Amino acid sequence: MTPPNFLNAILAGRSNGYLCFPGISFAKPKCDADSMQLSIENVTKSYTTPEGPVEVLRGIDLTVIAGESVALTGESGSGKSTLLHLAAGLDAADSGKVMANGRDISRLDEGDLAQYRRKEVGLVFQQFNLVPSLDVAANISFHAKLADRHDARWQAELMEKLGLSALSRRYPEQLSGGQQQRVAIARTLAARPGMILADEPTGNLDEATGDAVLDLMLTLSRSAGCSLLLVTHSERLAAKLDRKVLLRQGRIAT
Ligand SMILES: Nc1ncnc2c1ncn2[C@@H]1O[C@H](COP(=O)(O)OP(=O)(O)OP(=O)(O)O)[C@@H](O)[C@H]1O
Ligand SMILES: [Mg+2]
Repeated sequence: MTPPNFLNAILAGRSNGYLCFPGISFAKPKCDADSMQLSIENVTKSYTTPEGPVEVLRGIDLTVIAGESVALTGESGSGKSTLLHLAAGLDAADSGKVMANGRDISRLDEGDLAQYRRKEVGLVFQQFNLVPSLDVAANISFHAKLADRHDARWQAELMEKLGLSALSRRYPEQLSGGQQQRVAIARTLAARPGMILADEPTGNLDEATGDAVLDLMLTLSRSAGCSLLLVTHSERLAAKLDRKVLLRQGRIAT
């Protein structure tokens, strides 16, 4: 699922991000935002399609405690991306609550919701959503600057660890899918949110690179106390996280 008008959403303060790597020390191994507890309570969501209404989420209850890493699994079309977009405040549930550190985000006014999207959560999109007119370095710094958290040294470290330093002046169309995915991850890590929502963040990477990137995300989020909700189709990757949940027939099955 791609949120409509993504660029407008960013400009309205709707996006950002952050992450991590194995056995590596960082300039700022710390979340600037408070570590987030996310509680999704009896959430429903339907879409209108040409074939009629589709009930995607039918009463989701899921809590990610502060600092916890949770793998979200489920077959294609089961609603994983929909759930992440609701948690990120990019879309609204039909009913139920999305509570972030005890606040119901559907009750935030537009300004507070923009701050929430900009500073508290970071979403690694399934389709990357890089800005085509910005080079790699500018794509990565864009969200951090919006969040008032740009740090050139931190960005340089992230780019090095993610193998992006030599690509900093390239534009997204000049990158492979896996390179674009790493830029999207660096962009999220650079802004240091309290919770990372990652939608198959290693889906375009080879197994070794994907493992290294996921290990980085886990190392950084654990050391910084950041929460992580990560969609994956890989049982092997899911097993690295603290806990795994399965989305089936619109509900959390395990
Ligand atoms: N904007 C939309 N309008 C109508 N239907 C939608 C929309 N976005 C998603 N859907 C439908 O909602 C369901 C859930 O979509 P979603 O993208 O959340 O699935 P997913 O679990 O992330 O799948 P995948 O593993 O393939 O990424 C699908 O049946 C999809 O066709
Ligand atoms: Mg998806």
